[in-house]
Amino acid sequence: METLQGMKRTHHAGTLRKADIDTEVVLAGWVSRRRDHGGLIFVDMRDRSGFVQVVFDEAAMNEGTFHKAESLRNEFCIAVRGKVRGRSEDTINPNIETGEVEVVCEELRILNKAKTPPFYIQDGIDVDETVRMKYRYLDLRRPEMQKNIILRHRVTKIMRDFFDSEGFLEIETPMLCKSTPEGARDFLVPSRLNPGEFYALPQSPQIFKQILQVAGFEKYFQIVRCFRDEDLRADRQPEFTQLDIEMSFLDQDTILSLMERMTQKLFKEAIGAEVKIPFERMTWDTAMDTYGSDKPDLRFDMPLMDISEHVKDSEFKVFNAVLGNGGMVKCIKVDGYADIPRRRLDDLVKFVQIYGAKGLAWIQYAEEGIKSPFKKFYSDETFAKIAEATGAKTGDLLLVVADKRLVVDTALGQLRLEMAKERGLIDPDALRFLWVVDFPMYEWSEEEKRWKAMHHPFTSPRDEDIEFLKSDPGRVKANAYDMVLNGVEIGGGSLRIYNADLQEKVFESLGLTYEQAYEKFGFMMDAFEYGTPPHGGIAFGLDRLVMLMAKRDSIRDVIAFPKNQSARDVMSSAPSTVDEKQLRELSIRTAVKKKEAK
Ligand code: AMO
Ligand code: AMP
Repeated sequence: METLQGMKRTHHAGTLRKADIDTEVVLAGWVSRRRDHGGLIFVDMRDRSGFVQVVFDEAAMNEGTFHKAESLRNEFCIAVRGKVRGRSEDTINPNIETGEVEVVCEELRILNKAKTPPFYIQDGIDVDETVRMKYRYLDLRRPEMQKNIILRHRVTKIMRDFFDSEGFLEIETPMLCKSTPEGARDFLVPSRLNPGEFYALPQSPQIFKQILQVAGFEKYFQIVRCFRDEDLRADRQPEFTQLDIEMSFLDQDTILSLMERMTQKLFKEAIGAEVKIPFERMTWDTAMDTYGSDKPDLRFDMPLMDISEHVKDSEFKVFNAVLGNGGMVKCIKVDGYADIPRRRLDDLVKFVQIYGAKGLAWIQYAEEGIKSPFKKFYSDETFAKIAEATGAKTGDLLLVVADKRLVVDTALGQLRLEMAKERGLIDPDALRFLWVVDFPMYEWSEEEKRWKAMHHPFTSPRDEDIEFLKSDPGRVKANAYDMVLNGVEIGGGSLRIYNADLQEKVFESLGLTYEQAYEKFGFMMDAFEYGTPPHGGIAFGLDRLVMLMAKRDSIRDVIAFPKNQSARDVMSSAPSTVDEKQLRELSIRTAVKKKEAK
């Protein structure tokens, strides 16, 4: 193999343009594609900036160099010295940025050969993701992946500049922390020096950033890794990154408008998108009622509508039972879909069952008349009234669910998304931001038969609801807010409790005695005895934000080295078993029999 000695890169391949014609350049990068036309070889040469066509002309170069060019294969790492020339009119490629020029090679060095890659290094490949992850270094060579990672860099740079200019300080917080119950399961790290004791990796820097407010830093931010041992989905990773913010002496508007300005700047500077501020603000109650979701996708309308009023007092057992039990009957209207195939309706019944609904009914306002499983129980007049109330016209379809409020809303909320996709109602270029505000303070856990904090236990209740903390926790709303973009929760935060008495009351309502709370959060409660300022903050999911900016469906595409669905790094093969000796040092014994070495 050859070296770069005496050959210094002068240009990046993807940046060459007409203005560079006749310039002598030295490029370094990879062979992206090679076409052999006998005495002429064309190589698309790629580096981080893109690619350019390099021409090897047997007639115009020394024989050794041409032979070398014949031996080139995809992904060889090479350096080229040559001259930029304009392409002839008929060979100009308007689809690529360097399509008006090419580089005529004078000197070629093969810096390294490459094995044949397991997949093509190009955009839009259809390859099993496990293979992409195993060969992540090759996957990351693909231009679309390079773009994502470069965008991510731009995003964090703009964020840092923005918060710096607003007087925020980036302060690091520990990765080895005390395990506190904050939401998800902790990742634990055994302590060698303290046998039998464990650190937890932070689920977020929540407690530290609040203590930094007690410490007087007033405006804190951090771009920080967080760890949660949860079941994974397309927008969830066991380790992910937050843009984390906390500030003192603020009201809710201060933080919402700060984040709006940041978002506006970010979208403008990183992807050239104009975002209008302020964002729409919607209460949690409205979001759930109208869209069946606390993160509604507003790129299309299709609201949930309550038709309980119209279907009560009939012989239809299903609705009667639900309404008699304090439940409700709601529907969504799918325009122009009265001719939905029966088979599809059967699928949709199964679909809503995933979300806890017992069944699904429908009204097809078809040309040939009304079709509905409950047609015989209601008069034509009732169907006309429902049409009037919902705005259904001939040709439209209503999908109806009857159940308890939360079940109806959740099932129809999901069905709404499914129908929008199926009917092509979503504009992929739209950016619909909103704030969801006034979240409930608590949610009831059927499993544990107790109230749990919906956000976290440091979130402050609204002043006017404090009196109900004990008597009626379900009605207490919190000073909590989420930013939602296109149906994805990209950030969430709250104003915090800064009064020790109130904090104790909230712990109590979560079923924690003072002693239990002190055992878990004592250091924070101690800190709060020393003049805690009113404070609050928010955290953005950086991975999700970049995913949406890059128009990808999975956060794995904007993380250089993500984990797969079973939380494994398939490239390095982590997690893995460790030596007995390592375990002994940590005073750890596993209950799992040693796995066969893989
Ligand atoms: P929260 O738990 O809502 O709030 O997290 C904030 C944001 O982080 C993103 N996010 C995730 N992204 C990828 N993978 C995950 N597993 C994951 N979990 C969360 C989401 C979410 O909106 N400390 C509080 C914030 C505060 O109150 O200031 C917190 O962590 O986009
Ligand atoms: P069943 O009496 O269970 O056979 O239900 C009769 C019809 O009522 C079914 O075909 C469904 O269309 C509808 N149905 C059943 N349960 C529900 C429900 N929870 N919500 C809406 N429609 C339902």
